[in-house]
Amino acid sequence: MTTAHKTSTQPISHTAVKTTILTGDRATGPLHLGHYVGSLKQRVELQYTHDQTVLVADMQGLTDNANDPKKVSANILNVVADYLAVGIDPELTTICLQSQLPALAELTMYYSNVVSVARLERNPTVKTEIQSKGFGRSIPTGFLTYPISQAADITAFRATCVPVGDDQLPMLEQTNEIVRKINNLAGKEILVECEAMLSNASRLPSTDGKNKMSKSMGNAINLGASEKEIRQAVKSMYTDPNHLRIEDPGQIEGNIVFTYLDAFHPDQALVASLKEHYQAGGLGDGQTKKVLEACLLDMLSPIRQRRERYLADKGELIAVLRRGSEKARERTQKVLFDVRDVFGLNLF
Ligand code: TRP
Repeated sequence: MTTAHKTSTQPISHTAVKTTILTGDRATGPLHLGHYVGSLKQRVELQYTHDQTVLVADMQGLTDNANDPKKVSANILNVVADYLAVGIDPELTTICLQSQLPALAELTMYYSNVVSVARLERNPTVKTEIQSKGFGRSIPTGFLTYPISQAADITAFRATCVPVGDDQLPMLEQTNEIVRKINNLAGKEILVECEAMLSNASRLPSTDGKNKMSKSMGNAINLGASEKEIRQAVKSMYTDPNHLRIEDPGQIEGNIVFTYLDAFHPDQALVASLKEHYQAGGLGDGQTKKVLEACLLDMLSPIRQRRERYLADKGELIAVLRRGSEKARERTQKVLFDVRDVFGLNLF
Protein backbone atom coordinates (compact mmCIF):
# COMPACT_ATOMS: atom_id res chain seq x y z
CA MET A 1 0.00 0.00 0.00
CA THR A 2 1.33 3.40 -0.86
CA THR A 3 -0.85 5.41 1.49
CA ALA A 4 -0.62 5.55 5.24
CA HIS A 5 -3.58 3.27 5.78
CA LYS A 6 -2.55 0.12 7.53
CA THR A 7 -4.35 -3.09 6.88
CA SER A 8 -4.88 -5.75 9.44
CA THR A 9 -7.43 -8.42 9.96
CA GLN A 10 -8.09 -7.27 13.52
CA PRO A 11 -11.38 -5.48 13.97
CA ILE A 12 -10.88 -2.05 15.52
CA SER A 13 -13.02 -0.70 18.31
CA HIS A 14 -16.34 0.77 17.23
CA THR A 15 -15.52 4.10 18.85
CA ALA A 16 -12.68 4.81 16.41
CA VAL A 17 -13.67 6.71 13.30
CA LYS A 18 -13.08 4.50 10.33
CA THR A 19 -11.78 5.79 7.02
CA THR A 20 -14.43 5.63 4.32
CA ILE A 21 -13.59 3.59 1.26
CA LEU A 22 -15.44 3.27 -2.00
CA THR A 23 -14.48 0.99 -4.84
CA GLY A 24 -16.39 -0.38 -7.75
CA ASP A 25 -16.33 -2.65 -10.74
CA ARG A 26 -18.05 -2.33 -14.07
CA ALA A 27 -20.39 -5.29 -14.32
CA THR A 28 -19.37 -6.29 -17.81
CA GLY A 29 -18.03 -9.78 -17.13
CA PRO A 30 -17.05 -12.18 -14.39
CA LEU A 31 -14.00 -11.14 -12.36
CA HIS A 32 -10.60 -12.75 -12.96
CA LEU A 33 -7.24 -13.32 -11.30
CA GLY A 34 -6.13 -9.80 -12.18
CA HIS A 35 -8.99 -8.40 -10.11
CA TYR A 36 -8.10 -10.83 -7.36
CA VAL A 37 -4.47 -9.74 -6.88
CA GLY A 38 -5.13 -6.12 -7.80
CA SER A 39 -8.08 -5.41 -5.56
CA LEU A 40 -10.33 -8.18 -4.24
CA LYS A 41 -7.78 -9.58 -1.79
CA GLN A 42 -7.15 -6.12 -0.44
CA ARG A 43 -10.86 -5.46 0.00
CA VAL A 44 -11.26 -8.58 2.09
CA GLU A 45 -8.64 -7.20 4.50
CA LEU A 46 -9.85 -3.62 4.46
CA GLN A 47 -13.39 -4.53 5.41
CA TYR A 48 -12.31 -5.25 9.00
CA THR A 49 -10.74 -1.87 9.59
CA HIS A 50 -12.52 0.51 7.25
CA ASP A 51 -16.02 1.67 6.44
CA GLN A 52 -16.11 0.01 3.02
CA THR A 53 -18.63 0.19 0.21
CA VAL A 54 -18.29 -1.71 -3.04
CA LEU A 55 -20.37 -0.51 -5.95
CA VAL A 56 -21.45 -2.74 -8.80
CA ALA A 57 -21.20 -0.15 -11.56
CA ASP A 58 -23.92 -1.32 -13.93
CA MET A 59 -24.66 2.13 -15.32
CA GLN A 60 -20.99 2.77 -16.04
CA GLY A 61 -20.93 -0.63 -17.75
CA LEU A 62 -23.62 0.59 -20.12
CA THR A 63 -21.60 3.60 -21.26
CA ASP A 64 -19.89 1.50 -23.90
CA ASN A 65 -22.34 -1.41 -24.10
CA ALA A 66 -25.67 0.21 -24.90
CA ASN A 67 -26.03 -1.99 -27.99
CA ASP A 68 -25.58 -5.09 -25.86
CA PRO A 69 -27.14 -4.33 -22.46
CA LYS A 70 -27.29 -8.05 -21.60
CA LYS A 71 -23.54 -7.96 -21.22
CA VAL A 72 -24.17 -5.83 -18.15
CA SER A 73 -27.44 -7.20 -16.78
CA ALA A 74 -26.29 -10.81 -17.10
CA ASN A 75 -23.10 -10.11 -15.17
CA ILE A 76 -24.39 -8.24 -12.12
CA LEU A 77 -25.00 -11.36 -10.05
CA ASN A 78 -21.80 -12.98 -11.35
CA VAL A 79 -19.84 -10.09 -9.91
CA VAL A 80 -21.69 -10.27 -6.58
CA ALA A 81 -21.03 -14.04 -6.44
CA ASP A 82 -17.35 -13.35 -7.14
CA TYR A 83 -17.25 -10.89 -4.23
CA LEU A 84 -18.82 -13.31 -1.79
CA ALA A 85 -16.75 -16.25 -3.02
CA VAL A 86 -13.46 -14.49 -2.27
CA GLY A 87 -14.62 -13.46 1.19
CA ILE A 88 -16.14 -10.01 0.92
CA ASP A 89 -18.70 -10.18 3.70
CA PRO A 90 -21.93 -8.19 3.20
CA GLU A 91 -22.15 -7.75 6.98
CA LEU A 92 -18.87 -5.82 6.87
CA THR A 93 -18.90 -4.33 3.38
CA THR A 94 -21.88 -2.55 1.84
CA ILE A 95 -22.36 -4.12 -1.58
CA CYS A 96 -24.68 -1.98 -3.69
CA LEU A 97 -25.95 -1.49 -7.23
CA GLN A 98 -25.28 1.81 -8.97
CA SER A 99 -28.55 1.94 -10.92
CA GLN A 100 -30.55 1.60 -7.71
CA LEU A 101 -29.07 4.74 -6.16
CA PRO A 102 -30.87 7.67 -7.81
CA ALA A 103 -28.71 10.20 -5.95
CA LEU A 104 -25.77 9.15 -8.12
CA ALA A 105 -27.53 10.07 -11.35
CA GLU A 106 -28.77 13.34 -9.86
CA LEU A 107 -25.35 14.32 -8.55
CA THR A 108 -23.94 13.59 -12.02
CA MET A 109 -26.36 16.18 -13.44
CA TYR A 110 -25.30 18.86 -10.96
CA TYR A 111 -21.61 18.14 -11.37
CA SER A 112 -21.92 18.23 -15.18
CA ASN A 113 -22.37 21.97 -14.92
CA VAL A 114 -18.92 22.53 -13.49
CA VAL A 115 -16.98 20.33 -15.93
CA SER A 116 -16.14 21.45 -19.46
CA VAL A 117 -16.24 19.18 -22.49
CA ALA A 118 -12.58 20.07 -23.10
CA ARG A 119 -11.69 18.80 -19.64
CA LEU A 120 -13.46 15.51 -20.31
CA GLU A 121 -11.66 15.13 -23.62
CA ARG A 122 -8.33 15.59 -21.87
CA ASN A 123 -8.81 12.69 -19.45
CA PRO A 124 -5.99 10.33 -20.52
CA THR A 125 -7.77 7.10 -19.57
CA VAL A 126 -10.91 8.09 -21.44
CA LYS A 127 -8.79 9.22 -24.37
CA THR A 128 -7.06 5.84 -24.61
CA GLU A 129 -10.35 3.99 -24.22
CA ILE A 130 -12.00 6.05 -26.96
CA GLN A 131 -9.20 5.04 -29.30
CA SER A 132 -9.15 1.38 -28.38
CA LYS A 133 -12.92 1.04 -28.57
CA GLY A 134 -13.00 2.55 -32.05
CA PHE A 135 -15.89 4.92 -31.40
CA GLY A 136 -14.69 7.18 -34.20
CA ARG A 137 -16.88 10.26 -34.16
CA SER A 138 -19.72 8.49 -32.40
CA ILE A 139 -18.59 8.65 -28.81
CA PRO A 140 -21.60 8.07 -26.57
CA THR A 141 -22.18 11.11 -24.35
CA GLY A 142 -22.45 8.79 -21.38
CA PHE A 143 -19.01 7.42 -22.11
CA LEU A 144 -17.33 10.80 -22.38
CA THR A 145 -18.94 11.87 -19.13
CA TYR A 146 -18.44 8.73 -17.08
CA PRO A 147 -15.68 10.39 -15.03
CA ILE A 148 -18.36 12.79 -13.75
CA SER A 149 -20.58 9.87 -12.82
CA GLN A 150 -17.63 8.24 -11.08
CA ALA A 151 -17.07 11.48 -9.15
CA ALA A 152 -20.70 11.19 -8.08
CA ASP A 153 -20.11 7.60 -6.92
CA ILE A 154 -17.13 8.60 -4.82
CA THR A 155 -18.44 11.82 -3.31
CA ALA A 156 -21.90 10.41 -2.59
CA PHE A 157 -20.30 8.23 0.07
CA ARG A 158 -17.91 10.95 1.25
CA ALA A 159 -15.17 8.46 0.49
CA THR A 160 -11.67 9.67 1.28
CA CYS A 161 -9.91 6.54 0.13
CA VAL A 162 -10.40 4.85 -3.24
CA PRO A 163 -8.43 1.65 -3.90
CA VAL A 164 -7.90 1.53 -7.65
CA GLY A 165 -5.41 0.67 -10.35
CA ASP A 166 -3.28 3.47 -11.74
CA ASP A 167 -5.47 3.73 -14.84
CA GLN A 168 -8.11 5.23 -12.54
CA LEU A 169 -5.95 8.06 -11.20
CA PRO A 170 -7.30 10.54 -13.78
CA MET A 171 -10.81 9.82 -12.47
CA LEU A 172 -9.80 10.71 -8.93
CA GLU A 173 -8.08 13.86 -10.12
CA GLN A 174 -11.29 14.90 -11.87
CA THR A 175 -13.30 13.99 -8.79
CA ASN A 176 -11.19 16.26 -6.63
CA GLU A 177 -11.52 19.12 -9.11
CA ILE A 178 -15.29 18.79 -8.88
CA VAL A 179 -15.10 18.65 -5.09
CA ARG A 180 -13.12 21.89 -5.00
CA LYS A 181 -15.51 23.62 -7.40
CA ILE A 182 -18.58 22.63 -5.40
CA ASN A 183 -16.93 23.61 -2.13
CA ASN A 184 -15.95 26.94 -3.66
CA LEU A 185 -19.52 27.60 -4.72
CA ALA A 186 -20.71 26.60 -1.27
CA GLY A 187 -18.12 28.68 0.53
CA LYS A 188 -17.54 25.77 2.89
CA GLU A 189 -16.49 22.16 2.84
CA ILE A 190 -19.53 20.29 1.62
CA LEU A 191 -17.64 17.48 -0.09
CA VAL A 192 -14.36 15.81 0.81
CA GLU A 193 -11.44 15.13 -1.49
CA CYS A 194 -10.32 11.55 -1.97
CA GLU A 195 -7.01 9.83 -2.25
CA ALA A 196 -6.07 6.76 -4.26
CA MET A 197 -4.90 3.67 -2.52
CA LEU A 198 -2.71 1.89 -5.03
CA SER A 199 -2.23 -1.80 -4.49
CA ASN A 200 1.42 -2.75 -4.13
CA ALA A 201 0.80 -5.86 -6.20
CA SER A 202 1.91 -5.09 -9.71
CA ARG A 203 -0.62 -5.55 -12.46
CA LEU A 204 -0.97 -9.20 -13.36
CA PRO A 205 -0.16 -9.78 -17.03
CA SER A 206 -2.51 -11.68 -19.32
CA THR A 207 -1.79 -15.35 -19.97
CA ASP A 208 -0.57 -14.53 -23.50
CA GLY A 209 1.85 -11.97 -22.08
CA LYS A 210 0.85 -9.50 -24.77
CA ASN A 211 -2.28 -7.64 -23.93
CA LYS A 212 -4.27 -6.25 -21.09
CA MET A 213 -6.18 -9.03 -19.40
CA SER A 214 -9.69 -9.14 -20.72
CA LYS A 215 -12.56 -11.54 -20.77
CA SER A 216 -13.19 -10.97 -24.44
CA MET A 217 -9.62 -11.77 -25.46
CA GLY A 218 -9.63 -15.14 -23.72
CA ASN A 219 -6.35 -14.32 -22.01
CA ALA A 220 -7.62 -14.15 -18.43
CA ILE A 221 -8.34 -16.83 -15.85
CA ASN A 222 -11.72 -16.15 -14.28
CA LEU A 223 -12.31 -16.78 -10.59
CA GLY A 224 -15.00 -19.22 -11.61
CA ALA A 225 -12.83 -21.04 -14.18
CA SER A 226 -13.38 -24.81 -14.35
CA GLU A 227 -10.50 -27.22 -13.84
CA LYS A 228 -10.41 -27.78 -17.58
CA GLU A 229 -10.25 -24.05 -18.28
CA ILE A 230 -7.44 -23.60 -15.76
CA ARG A 231 -5.45 -26.46 -17.32
CA GLN A 232 -6.03 -25.07 -20.79
CA ALA A 233 -4.98 -21.56 -19.77
CA VAL A 234 -1.78 -22.75 -18.09
CA LYS A 235 -0.93 -25.00 -21.03
CA SER A 236 -1.13 -22.14 -23.52
CA MET A 237 0.65 -19.68 -21.24
CA TYR A 238 3.48 -17.61 -22.67
CA THR A 239 6.94 -18.64 -21.43
CA ASP A 240 10.39 -18.04 -22.92
CA PRO A 241 10.15 -18.43 -26.72
CA ASN A 242 13.91 -19.13 -26.90
CA HIS A 243 13.78 -21.96 -24.40
CA LEU A 244 13.56 -24.67 -27.03
CA ARG A 245 15.15 -27.65 -25.31
CA ILE A 246 14.86 -28.60 -21.68
CA GLU A 247 18.58 -28.46 -21.16
CA ASP A 248 18.78 -24.87 -22.48
CA PRO A 249 18.95 -22.07 -19.92
CA GLY A 250 15.58 -20.31 -19.73
CA GLN A 251 14.60 -16.74 -19.03
CA ILE A 252 12.44 -15.73 -16.07
CA GLU A 253 11.74 -12.18 -17.11
CA GLY A 254 8.54 -11.92 -19.12
CA ASN A 255 7.88 -15.61 -18.50
CA ILE A 256 4.25 -15.53 -17.43
CA VAL A 257 4.40 -18.89 -15.67
CA PHE A 258 6.92 -17.44 -13.23
CA THR A 259 5.03 -14.18 -12.89
CA TYR A 260 2.00 -16.19 -11.79
CA LEU A 261 4.07 -18.41 -9.50
CA ASP A 262 5.40 -15.23 -7.86
CA ALA A 263 1.88 -13.92 -7.42
CA PHE A 264 0.16 -17.06 -6.20
CA HIS A 265 2.42 -19.85 -5.01
CA PRO A 266 2.33 -20.22 -1.21
CA ASP A 267 5.89 -21.65 -1.14
CA GLN A 268 8.10 -18.87 -2.45
CA ALA A 269 11.27 -20.75 -1.49
CA LEU A 270 10.24 -23.45 -3.92
CA VAL A 271 9.58 -20.82 -6.58
CA ALA A 272 13.06 -19.40 -6.02
CA SER A 273 14.66 -22.81 -6.49
CA LEU A 274 12.60 -23.46 -9.62
CA LYS A 275 13.81 -20.16 -11.04
CA GLU A 276 17.41 -21.05 -10.35
CA HIS A 277 17.00 -24.44 -11.99
CA TYR A 278 15.19 -22.93 -14.97
CA GLN A 279 17.87 -20.30 -15.54
CA ALA A 280 20.62 -22.89 -15.28
CA GLY A 281 18.89 -25.17 -17.76
CA GLY A 282 17.37 -28.60 -17.27
CA LEU A 283 13.89 -27.58 -16.19
CA GLY A 284 11.22 -27.79 -18.84
CA ASP A 285 8.20 -25.57 -19.31
CA GLY A 286 5.97 -28.59 -18.90
CA GLN A 287 7.31 -29.02 -15.37
CA THR A 288 6.96 -25.39 -14.31
CA LYS A 289 3.46 -25.40 -15.75
CA LYS A 290 2.56 -28.49 -13.71
CA VAL A 291 3.54 -26.66 -10.53
CA LEU A 292 1.52 -23.61 -11.50
CA GLU A 293 -1.45 -25.69 -12.53
CA ALA A 294 -1.56 -27.46 -9.16
CA CYS A 295 -1.23 -24.17 -7.34
CA LEU A 296 -4.07 -22.49 -9.25
CA LEU A 297 -6.33 -25.53 -8.96
CA ASP A 298 -5.77 -25.50 -5.19
CA MET A 299 -6.41 -21.83 -4.84
CA LEU A 300 -9.39 -21.55 -7.16
CA SER A 301 -11.36 -24.68 -6.39
CA PRO A 302 -12.78 -23.49 -3.04
CA ILE A 303 -13.56 -20.12 -4.64
CA ARG A 304 -15.28 -21.85 -7.58
CA GLN A 305 -17.32 -24.06 -5.27
CA ARG A 306 -18.50 -21.15 -3.13
CA ARG A 307 -19.26 -19.14 -6.25
CA GLU A 308 -21.39 -21.95 -7.67
CA ARG A 309 -23.25 -22.31 -4.41
CA TYR A 310 -24.06 -18.59 -4.35
CA LEU A 311 -25.16 -18.61 -7.98
CA ALA A 312 -27.49 -21.51 -7.26
CA ASP A 313 -29.53 -19.19 -5.04
CA LYS A 314 -30.05 -16.04 -7.10
CA GLY A 315 -32.75 -14.87 -4.70
CA GLU A 316 -30.22 -14.63 -1.90
CA LEU A 317 -27.72 -12.77 -4.12
CA ILE A 318 -30.40 -10.29 -5.07
CA ALA A 319 -31.31 -9.89 -1.39
CA VAL A 320 -27.67 -9.09 -0.56
CA LEU A 321 -27.61 -6.43 -3.26
CA ARG A 322 -30.99 -5.04 -2.22
CA ARG A 323 -30.07 -4.72 1.44
CA GLY A 324 -26.77 -3.03 0.59
CA SER A 325 -28.46 -0.70 -1.89
CA GLU A 326 -31.11 0.33 0.64
CA LYS A 327 -28.42 1.27 3.12
CA ALA A 328 -26.45 3.12 0.47
CA ARG A 329 -29.53 4.91 -0.83
CA GLU A 330 -30.14 6.62 2.49
CA ARG A 331 -26.55 7.65 2.80
CA THR A 332 -26.22 9.05 -0.70
CA GLN A 333 -29.50 11.01 -0.45
CA LYS A 334 -27.93 13.10 2.31
CA VAL A 335 -25.05 14.17 0.09
CA LEU A 336 -27.48 14.93 -2.72
CA PHE A 337 -29.42 17.18 -0.34
CA ASP A 338 -26.23 19.07 0.56
CA VAL A 339 -25.25 19.55 -3.08
CA ARG A 340 -28.72 20.66 -4.09
CA ASP A 341 -28.50 23.15 -1.27
CA VAL A 342 -25.35 24.63 -2.77
CA PHE A 343 -27.46 25.54 -5.79
CA GLY A 344 -30.31 26.84 -3.62
CA LEU A 345 -32.70 24.21 -4.84
CA ASN A 346 -34.09 22.63 -1.67
CA LEU A 347 -37.36 24.55 -1.85
CA PHE A 348 -39.46 21.77 -0.39
N1 TRP B 1 -14.13 2.79 -13.41
C1 TRP B 1 -13.95 1.67 -12.56
C2 TRP B 1 -13.37 0.52 -13.42
O1 TRP B 1 -13.49 0.54 -14.62
C3 TRP B 1 -15.22 1.19 -11.90
C4 TRP B 1 -15.85 2.20 -10.98
C5 TRP B 1 -17.08 2.78 -11.11
C6 TRP B 1 -15.27 2.73 -9.79
N2 TRP B 1 -17.33 3.64 -10.07
C7 TRP B 1 -16.24 3.63 -9.25
C8 TRP B 1 -14.05 2.53 -9.13
C9 TRP B 1 -15.98 4.34 -8.07
C10 TRP B 1 -13.80 3.25 -7.97
C11 TRP B 1 -14.76 4.14 -7.46
O2 TRP B 1 -12.84 -0.41 -12.88
